[in-house]
Amino acid sequence: MKRKEVTEVFNEAELAQLVSQAEQAFASAVTGDQLRAARIAHLGESSPVSLANRAIATLPKASRKEVGQAIGATRFAITTALSAREPIVAEWDLQARIRDERVDMTLPVTLHPQGALHPVTALIHELGDIFTAMGWEVADGPEAEADWLNFDALNFTPDHPARFLSDTFFLDPPEDKRILRTHTSPVQMRTLLTRDLPVYVVVPGKVYRSDEYDATHLPVFHQLEGLAVDKGLGMADLKGTLDHMARALFGANARTRLRPHFFPFTEPSGEIDLACFVCEGQSVGNPARPCRTCRSEGWIEWGGCGVVNPRVLAAAGIDTEVYSGFAFGMGIDRTVMFKNGAQDMRDFAEGDTRFSRLLVGVAR
Ligand code: DAH
Repeated sequence: MKRKEVTEVFNEAELAQLVSQAEQAFASAVTGDQLRAARIAHLGESSPVSLANRAIATLPKASRKEVGQAIGATRFAITTALSAREPIVAEWDLQARIRDERVDMTLPVTLHPQGALHPVTALIHELGDIFTAMGWEVADGPEAEADWLNFDALNFTPDHPARFLSDTFFLDPPEDKRILRTHTSPVQMRTLLTRDLPVYVVVPGKVYRSDEYDATHLPVFHQLEGLAVDKGLGMADLKGTLDHMARALFGANARTRLRPHFFPFTEPSGEIDLACFVCEGQSVGNPARPCRTCRSEGWIEWGGCGVVNPRVLAAAGIDTEVYSGFAFGMGIDRTVMFKNGAQDMRDFAEGDTRFSRLLVGVAR
Protein backbone atom coordinates (compact mmCIF):
# COMPACT_ATOMS: atom_id res chain seq x y z
CA MET A 1 0.00 0.00 0.00
CA LYS A 2 1.33 3.38 -0.94
CA ARG A 3 1.84 6.13 1.58
CA LYS A 4 -0.72 8.30 -0.10
CA GLU A 5 -3.48 5.69 0.20
CA VAL A 6 -2.74 4.95 3.80
CA THR A 7 -2.76 8.53 4.94
CA GLU A 8 -5.80 9.19 2.80
CA VAL A 9 -7.77 6.29 4.11
CA PHE A 10 -6.70 6.70 7.69
CA ASN A 11 -6.82 10.38 8.18
CA GLU A 12 -7.94 11.51 11.61
CA ALA A 13 -11.56 11.90 10.70
CA GLU A 14 -11.73 8.38 9.37
CA LEU A 15 -9.99 6.92 12.38
CA ALA A 16 -12.44 8.74 14.61
CA GLN A 17 -15.22 7.22 12.54
CA LEU A 18 -13.82 3.73 13.07
CA VAL A 19 -14.05 4.38 16.81
CA SER A 20 -17.62 5.60 16.66
CA GLN A 21 -18.69 2.73 14.37
CA ALA A 22 -17.18 0.27 16.82
CA GLU A 23 -18.83 2.03 19.78
CA GLN A 24 -22.18 1.82 18.04
CA ALA A 25 -21.70 -1.86 17.22
CA PHE A 26 -20.77 -2.64 20.82
CA ALA A 27 -23.67 -0.59 22.15
CA SER A 28 -26.19 -2.44 20.01
CA ALA A 29 -24.84 -5.85 21.04
CA VAL A 30 -27.12 -7.19 23.80
CA THR A 31 -25.86 -10.79 23.99
CA GLY A 32 -22.42 -12.27 24.41
CA ASP A 33 -22.62 -13.76 20.92
CA GLN A 34 -23.45 -10.41 19.36
CA LEU A 35 -20.62 -8.71 21.27
CA ARG A 36 -18.15 -11.37 20.13
CA ALA A 37 -19.22 -10.81 16.52
CA ALA A 38 -18.79 -7.04 16.96
CA ARG A 39 -15.35 -7.55 18.48
CA ILE A 40 -14.24 -9.68 15.51
CA ALA A 41 -15.59 -7.08 13.07
CA HIS A 42 -13.91 -4.13 14.81
CA LEU A 43 -10.78 -5.58 16.39
CA GLY A 44 -10.29 -8.93 14.63
CA GLU A 45 -7.57 -9.84 12.12
CA SER A 46 -9.42 -8.39 9.16
CA SER A 47 -10.96 -5.41 10.92
CA PRO A 48 -10.07 -1.95 9.48
CA VAL A 49 -7.76 -1.10 12.43
CA SER A 50 -5.85 -4.37 12.09
CA LEU A 51 -5.46 -3.93 8.35
CA ALA A 52 -4.28 -0.36 8.88
CA ASN A 53 -1.86 -1.50 11.54
CA ARG A 54 -0.35 -4.02 9.17
CA ALA A 55 -0.08 -1.39 6.45
CA ILE A 56 2.16 0.80 8.64
CA ALA A 57 5.17 -1.25 7.59
CA THR A 58 4.65 -0.19 4.01
CA LEU A 59 4.82 3.53 4.87
CA PRO A 60 7.95 5.60 4.49
CA LYS A 61 9.88 5.56 7.74
CA ALA A 62 9.26 9.22 8.44
CA SER A 63 5.51 8.92 8.69
CA ARG A 64 5.36 5.55 10.42
CA LYS A 65 5.56 6.91 13.93
CA GLU A 66 2.78 9.43 13.55
CA VAL A 67 0.43 7.10 11.72
CA GLY A 68 1.33 4.31 14.11
CA GLN A 69 0.44 6.43 17.13
CA ALA A 70 -2.86 7.47 15.57
CA ILE A 71 -3.81 3.91 14.77
CA GLY A 72 -2.66 2.71 18.21
CA ALA A 73 -4.81 5.35 19.85
CA THR A 74 -7.76 4.25 17.70
CA ARG A 75 -7.26 0.64 18.66
CA PHE A 76 -7.00 1.60 22.32
CA ALA A 77 -10.25 3.62 22.09
CA ILE A 78 -12.07 0.67 20.49
CA THR A 79 -10.67 -1.79 23.06
CA THR A 80 -11.71 0.52 25.88
CA ALA A 81 -15.25 0.74 24.48
CA LEU A 82 -15.37 -3.07 24.26
CA SER A 83 -14.15 -3.54 27.84
CA ALA A 84 -16.80 -1.14 29.07
CA ARG A 85 -19.52 -3.07 27.32
CA GLU A 86 -18.39 -6.60 28.23
CA PRO A 87 -19.47 -6.75 31.91
CA ILE A 88 -22.88 -5.28 31.05
CA VAL A 89 -23.56 -7.87 28.36
CA ALA A 90 -22.15 -10.64 30.57
CA GLU A 91 -24.59 -9.68 33.31
CA TRP A 92 -27.50 -9.72 30.85
CA ASP A 93 -26.40 -13.12 29.59
CA LEU A 94 -26.33 -14.40 33.14
CA GLN A 95 -29.81 -13.01 33.86
CA ALA A 96 -31.13 -14.58 30.67
CA ARG A 97 -29.66 -17.96 31.65
CA ILE A 98 -31.09 -17.74 35.13
CA ARG A 99 -34.48 -16.94 33.60
CA ASP A 100 -34.31 -19.67 30.93
CA GLU A 101 -33.00 -22.40 33.19
CA ARG A 102 -35.42 -21.71 36.00
CA VAL A 103 -37.03 -24.87 37.38
CA ASP A 104 -40.72 -24.64 38.12
CA MET A 105 -41.04 -26.55 41.36
CA THR A 106 -44.82 -26.51 41.08
CA LEU A 107 -44.95 -28.53 37.85
CA PRO A 108 -46.37 -32.05 38.22
CA VAL A 109 -43.65 -34.71 38.22
CA THR A 110 -43.52 -38.36 37.28
CA LEU A 111 -43.18 -40.26 40.56
CA HIS A 112 -40.86 -43.21 40.74
CA PRO A 113 -42.95 -46.37 40.87
CA GLN A 114 -43.51 -47.46 44.45
CA GLY A 115 -42.95 -50.99 45.63
CA ALA A 116 -45.84 -53.22 46.56
CA LEU A 117 -46.33 -55.70 49.37
CA HIS A 118 -46.13 -59.26 48.15
CA PRO A 119 -49.63 -60.77 48.26
CA VAL A 120 -48.35 -63.47 50.62
CA THR A 121 -46.95 -60.84 52.98
CA ALA A 122 -50.21 -58.90 52.78
CA LEU A 123 -52.22 -62.01 53.68
CA ILE A 124 -49.82 -62.88 56.52
CA HIS A 125 -50.45 -59.41 57.95
CA GLU A 126 -54.20 -59.85 57.58
CA LEU A 127 -54.11 -63.28 59.25
CA GLY A 128 -51.99 -61.86 62.07
CA ASP A 129 -54.61 -59.14 62.60
CA ILE A 130 -57.48 -61.64 62.65
CA PHE A 131 -55.84 -63.81 65.30
CA THR A 132 -54.29 -61.13 67.49
CA ALA A 133 -57.76 -59.54 67.64
CA MET A 134 -58.87 -62.78 69.35
CA GLY A 135 -55.98 -62.61 71.80
CA TRP A 136 -53.71 -65.08 69.99
CA GLU A 137 -49.97 -64.53 69.55
CA VAL A 138 -47.91 -64.72 66.37
CA ALA A 139 -44.87 -67.00 66.73
CA ASP A 140 -42.14 -68.17 64.39
CA GLY A 141 -39.47 -70.80 64.12
CA PRO A 142 -36.41 -71.62 62.00
CA GLU A 143 -36.68 -72.82 58.41
CA ALA A 144 -33.64 -75.07 58.86
CA GLU A 145 -35.17 -77.40 61.42
CA ALA A 146 -34.23 -80.43 63.47
CA ASP A 147 -35.47 -83.63 61.89
CA TRP A 148 -36.79 -84.58 65.34
CA LEU A 149 -39.05 -81.50 65.65
CA ASN A 150 -40.29 -81.73 62.08
CA PHE A 151 -41.18 -85.44 62.32
CA ASP A 152 -40.53 -87.44 65.51
CA ALA A 153 -41.97 -84.93 67.97
CA LEU A 154 -45.09 -84.84 65.81
CA ASN A 155 -45.53 -88.60 66.07
CA PHE A 156 -44.38 -89.46 62.54
CA THR A 157 -43.22 -93.07 62.49
CA PRO A 158 -39.62 -93.66 61.33
CA ASP A 159 -40.86 -95.11 58.04
CA HIS A 160 -43.44 -92.39 57.30
CA PRO A 161 -43.24 -91.58 53.54
CA ALA A 162 -43.05 -87.81 54.17
CA ARG A 163 -39.56 -88.32 55.58
CA PHE A 164 -38.10 -89.61 52.34
CA LEU A 165 -35.75 -87.89 49.97
CA SER A 166 -38.49 -87.48 47.41
CA ASP A 167 -40.31 -85.02 49.66
CA THR A 168 -37.74 -83.53 51.99
CA PHE A 169 -34.64 -81.37 51.55
CA PHE A 170 -31.88 -82.70 53.83
CA LEU A 171 -29.09 -80.43 55.01
CA ASP A 172 -25.41 -81.29 55.23
CA PRO A 173 -23.75 -82.72 57.22
CA PRO A 174 -26.18 -85.67 57.53
CA GLU A 175 -25.15 -86.39 61.12
CA ASP A 176 -26.65 -83.02 62.16
CA LYS A 177 -30.04 -84.44 61.17
CA ARG A 178 -31.30 -81.12 59.98
CA ILE A 179 -33.74 -80.51 57.15
CA LEU A 180 -35.60 -77.62 55.59
CA ARG A 181 -38.90 -77.84 57.45
CA THR A 182 -41.60 -79.45 55.34
CA HIS A 183 -44.41 -77.76 57.27
CA THR A 184 -44.85 -75.15 60.01
CA SER A 185 -45.98 -77.83 62.47
CA PRO A 186 -42.54 -78.20 64.17
CA VAL A 187 -43.20 -74.77 65.68
CA GLN A 188 -46.01 -76.48 67.65
CA MET A 189 -43.46 -78.35 69.73
CA ARG A 190 -41.12 -75.35 69.95
CA THR A 191 -44.02 -73.29 71.27
CA LEU A 192 -45.06 -75.90 73.81
CA LEU A 193 -41.48 -76.22 75.05
CA THR A 194 -40.92 -72.48 75.44
CA ARG A 195 -44.25 -70.99 76.53
CA ASP A 196 -46.45 -71.27 79.57
CA LEU A 197 -49.93 -72.67 79.21
CA PRO A 198 -52.46 -71.78 77.96
CA VAL A 199 -51.05 -71.36 74.46
CA TYR A 200 -52.81 -69.67 71.55
CA VAL A 201 -50.44 -69.07 68.64
CA VAL A 202 -50.46 -68.78 64.89
CA VAL A 203 -47.24 -69.32 62.95
CA PRO A 204 -46.92 -68.03 59.40
CA GLY A 205 -43.80 -69.06 57.52
CA LYS A 206 -41.93 -70.64 54.63
CA VAL A 207 -41.88 -74.38 54.14
CA TYR A 208 -39.92 -76.52 51.67
CA ARG A 209 -40.73 -79.63 49.69
CA SER A 210 -38.91 -81.07 46.71
CA ASP A 211 -41.85 -80.40 44.41
CA GLU A 212 -41.72 -79.44 40.76
CA TYR A 213 -41.81 -75.75 39.92
CA ASP A 214 -45.01 -75.42 37.90
CA ALA A 215 -48.35 -73.61 37.81
CA THR A 216 -49.64 -75.40 40.92
CA HIS A 217 -46.43 -76.24 42.83
CA LEU A 218 -43.51 -74.36 44.30
CA PRO A 219 -40.63 -75.99 46.16
CA VAL A 220 -40.94 -73.13 48.67
CA PHE A 221 -44.34 -72.02 49.83
CA HIS A 222 -46.03 -70.64 52.93
CA GLN A 223 -48.24 -72.09 55.62
CA LEU A 224 -50.17 -70.74 58.53
CA GLU A 225 -50.03 -73.02 61.54
CA GLY A 226 -52.40 -72.61 64.44
CA LEU A 227 -52.12 -74.18 67.89
CA ALA A 228 -54.29 -73.75 70.96
CA VAL A 229 -53.70 -75.69 74.17
CA ASP A 230 -55.86 -74.96 77.17
CA LYS A 231 -58.17 -76.69 79.62
CA GLY A 232 -61.16 -78.28 77.93
CA LEU A 233 -60.48 -77.47 74.28
CA GLY A 234 -61.95 -79.74 71.62
CA MET A 235 -63.31 -80.15 68.14
CA ALA A 236 -66.05 -77.53 68.56
CA ASP A 237 -63.48 -74.88 69.46
CA LEU A 238 -61.50 -75.84 66.37
CA LYS A 239 -64.54 -75.58 64.12
CA GLY A 240 -65.55 -72.22 65.65
CA THR A 241 -62.05 -70.81 65.16
CA LEU A 242 -61.85 -71.96 61.54
CA ASP A 243 -65.33 -70.59 60.79
CA HIS A 244 -64.36 -67.24 62.26
CA MET A 245 -61.17 -67.19 60.22
CA ALA A 246 -63.08 -68.07 57.04
CA ARG A 247 -65.64 -65.31 57.60
CA ALA A 248 -62.95 -62.74 58.43
CA LEU A 249 -61.15 -63.58 55.18
CA PHE A 250 -63.99 -64.35 52.80
CA GLY A 251 -67.01 -62.51 54.14
CA ALA A 252 -69.95 -63.18 56.46
CA ASN A 253 -71.41 -65.91 54.24
CA ALA A 254 -68.29 -68.08 54.26
CA ARG A 255 -68.90 -71.68 55.32
CA THR A 256 -66.50 -74.51 56.15
CA ARG A 257 -66.80 -78.27 56.50
CA LEU A 258 -64.56 -80.90 58.06
CA ARG A 259 -63.77 -84.23 56.40
CA PRO A 260 -62.13 -87.06 58.32
CA HIS A 261 -58.44 -87.46 57.51
CA PHE A 262 -55.24 -88.65 59.14
CA PHE A 263 -52.31 -86.71 60.55
CA PRO A 264 -49.92 -88.33 63.04
CA PHE A 265 -49.99 -85.31 65.36
CA THR A 266 -53.78 -84.86 65.64
CA GLU A 267 -56.45 -87.32 66.72
CA PRO A 268 -59.09 -87.08 65.42
CA SER A 269 -57.83 -85.31 62.30
CA GLY A 270 -59.69 -83.62 59.53
CA GLU A 271 -59.33 -81.72 56.36
CA ILE A 272 -61.06 -78.41 56.22
CA ASP A 273 -62.88 -77.31 53.08
CA LEU A 274 -64.22 -73.90 52.29
CA ALA A 275 -67.61 -73.58 50.55
CA CYS A 276 -66.87 -72.05 47.15
CA PHE A 277 -67.63 -68.36 47.53
CA VAL A 278 -67.48 -67.79 43.77
CA CYS A 279 -70.20 -70.16 42.52
CA GLU A 280 -71.67 -70.87 45.97
CA GLY A 281 -72.10 -74.49 44.95
CA GLN A 282 -74.15 -73.70 41.85
CA SER A 283 -71.56 -75.19 39.50
CA VAL A 284 -71.91 -78.67 41.03
CA GLY A 285 -73.39 -81.04 38.44
CA ASN A 286 -74.08 -78.05 36.22
CA PRO A 287 -71.81 -78.18 33.12
CA ALA A 288 -73.47 -75.02 31.80
CA ARG A 289 -71.98 -73.06 34.70
CA PRO A 290 -68.47 -74.38 35.36
CA CYS A 291 -66.45 -72.81 38.20
CA ARG A 292 -62.68 -72.44 37.97
CA THR A 293 -62.20 -71.66 41.65
CA CYS A 294 -63.65 -74.92 43.02
CA ARG A 295 -63.39 -76.89 39.75
CA SER A 296 -67.17 -77.30 39.98
CA GLU A 297 -66.89 -79.27 43.21
CA GLY A 298 -68.57 -76.66 45.40
CA TRP A 299 -65.82 -76.96 48.03
CA ILE A 300 -62.18 -75.87 48.08
CA GLU A 301 -59.60 -77.88 50.04
CA TRP A 302 -58.07 -75.45 52.47
CA GLY A 303 -55.89 -77.31 54.99
CA GLY A 304 -55.51 -79.89 57.70
CA CYS A 305 -56.55 -79.74 61.33
CA GLY A 306 -57.52 -81.76 64.34
CA VAL A 307 -57.42 -82.23 68.08
CA VAL A 308 -53.78 -82.32 69.23
CA ASN A 309 -52.67 -85.92 69.71
CA PRO A 310 -52.02 -86.43 73.47
CA ARG A 311 -48.69 -88.03 72.52
CA VAL A 312 -47.50 -84.63 71.23
CA LEU A 313 -48.58 -82.91 74.45
CA ALA A 314 -46.97 -85.63 76.52
CA ALA A 315 -43.71 -85.27 74.57
CA ALA A 316 -43.72 -81.63 75.67
CA GLY A 317 -44.28 -82.67 79.29
CA ILE A 318 -47.88 -81.47 79.44
CA ASP A 319 -50.43 -83.22 81.65
CA THR A 320 -52.92 -84.61 79.14
CA GLU A 321 -55.49 -85.25 81.87
CA VAL A 322 -55.76 -81.49 82.37
CA TYR A 323 -54.91 -79.95 79.04
CA SER A 324 -56.05 -80.55 75.49
CA GLY A 325 -55.77 -78.59 72.30
CA PHE A 326 -56.49 -78.19 68.64
CA ALA A 327 -54.28 -77.36 65.68
CA PHE A 328 -54.62 -76.47 62.04
CA GLY A 329 -52.38 -75.69 59.06
CA MET A 330 -53.14 -74.28 55.65
CA GLY A 331 -51.30 -73.03 52.58
CA ILE A 332 -51.08 -69.24 52.46
CA ASP A 333 -50.15 -69.08 48.77
CA ARG A 334 -53.12 -71.32 47.96
CA THR A 335 -55.37 -69.05 50.00
CA VAL A 336 -54.12 -66.03 48.01
CA MET A 337 -54.86 -67.98 44.84
CA PHE A 338 -58.51 -68.45 45.52
CA LYS A 339 -59.02 -65.27 47.54
CA ASN A 340 -57.41 -62.90 45.03
CA GLY A 341 -57.71 -64.91 41.84
CA ALA A 342 -54.04 -65.68 41.12
CA GLN A 343 -53.77 -68.33 38.40
CA ASP A 344 -50.15 -69.43 38.33
CA MET A 345 -48.03 -70.29 41.38
CA ARG A 346 -44.88 -69.23 39.54
CA ASP A 347 -46.06 -65.60 39.73
CA PHE A 348 -45.52 -65.84 43.49
CA ALA A 349 -41.80 -66.46 43.04
CA GLU A 350 -41.04 -64.05 40.20
CA GLY A 351 -40.92 -60.91 42.34
CA ASP A 352 -42.67 -58.78 39.71
CA THR A 353 -44.34 -55.86 41.47
CA ARG A 354 -47.02 -55.71 38.76
CA PHE A 355 -48.35 -59.01 40.12
CA SER A 356 -48.35 -57.65 43.67
CA ARG A 357 -50.09 -54.42 42.66
CA LEU A 358 -52.70 -56.32 40.72
CA LEU A 359 -53.57 -58.47 43.69
CA VAL A 360 -53.19 -56.19 46.69
CA GLY A 361 -52.53 -52.68 45.40
CA VAL A 362 -49.67 -50.36 46.25
CA ALA A 363 -47.82 -50.84 49.53
CA ARG A 364 -49.28 -48.97 52.44
N1 DAH B 1 -48.71 -79.91 58.64
C1 DAH B 1 -49.76 -80.37 57.76
C2 DAH B 1 -49.30 -80.31 56.33
O1 DAH B 1 -48.34 -79.68 56.04
C3 DAH B 1 -50.97 -79.51 57.90
C4 DAH B 1 -51.62 -79.68 59.24
C5 DAH B 1 -52.53 -80.69 59.46
C6 DAH B 1 -51.29 -78.83 60.29
C7 DAH B 1 -53.16 -80.85 60.67
C8 DAH B 1 -51.88 -79.02 61.54
C9 DAH B 1 -52.84 -80.02 61.69
O2 DAH B 1 -51.61 -78.22 62.59
O3 DAH B 1 -53.44 -80.14 62.91
O4 DAH B 1 -49.91 -80.91 55.48
